[in-house]
Amino acid sequence: MKDNNESYCIYPGSFDPITNGHINLIERGLHIFDKIIVAIANNMTKAPMFTVEERKEMIRLSFANNPESHRIIVDSFDGLLVDYCRGKGVHVVLRGLRATSDFEYEFQMTFMNRKLDRTIDTIFMMTGMQWFFVNSSVIKQAALSGACVSGLVPDIVCERLQEKIKSIKGKKTKPKKAGNKADS
Ligand code: PNS
Repeated sequence: MKDNNESYCIYPGSFDPITNGHINLIERGLHIFDKIIVAIANNMTKAPMFTVEERKEMIRLSFANNPESHRIIVDSFDGLLVDYCRGKGVHVVLRGLRATSDFEYEFQMTFMNRKLDRTIDTIFMMTGMQWFFVNSSVIKQAALSGACVSGLVPDIVCERLQEKIKSIKGKKTKPKKAGNKADS
C-alpha cells in the first residue's frame, strides 16, 4: 500500500531482460524518490524473450543484495501507462535517456502520455556513460549469437539468458517425429 508521506515514481519498461543500464538508473532514482515502482509493461505488440514472471524474478534477484531493495517494488501492468499510474496514485514517471537516438521516441511517448493525462509528468535521467550503448535488444541479439554479455547485465540475467537460449535452440533442433502427416 502506498504511503502518502513518501515520494514515489514509476519506472516503466519492457525489461526483457533488465540490464546494468536499468540498474544504474534505479539506483540513482532512489537518491531522488523514496520508492520506485519498476513496472513491466505486458506489451502485446512485442514478442518478449522472457515471460513477465521471469522478468519480475530477474529484477528482484538483481537487487537481492542491495540494502535499499525494500524501496523497490516490482510490478507489471496491461494497457495504458497513464491508467496504471492513476491506479497507483503516482504522478511521476521516470525514464532513462541514452544517446540522442532515444529522444524522438521518448518525446512522442511523453507527449502522448501528457495528452492522455496532464496530471502525470515524465522526468528523464541520463543513463550512466558506461551503459550508453546497452539496451535489452542488443543484449539479446549478442547473447543469441553466442557473445558473452557478462558485465553488461546482472549475473542472474547472464545465467537466465544462457538457459533461455539453450531451450530456444534445443526446440529448433528437435528432430521431427517419423510418420508425421504434416511432414509428408
Ligand atoms: O523499455 P521500453 O520498451 O522502451 O518501454 C516502453 C514502455 C513500456 C514504457 C511503453 O511502451 C509503454 O508505456 N507502454 C504501455 C502502453 C502505453 O501507455 N503507451 C504510451 C501511450 S500510447
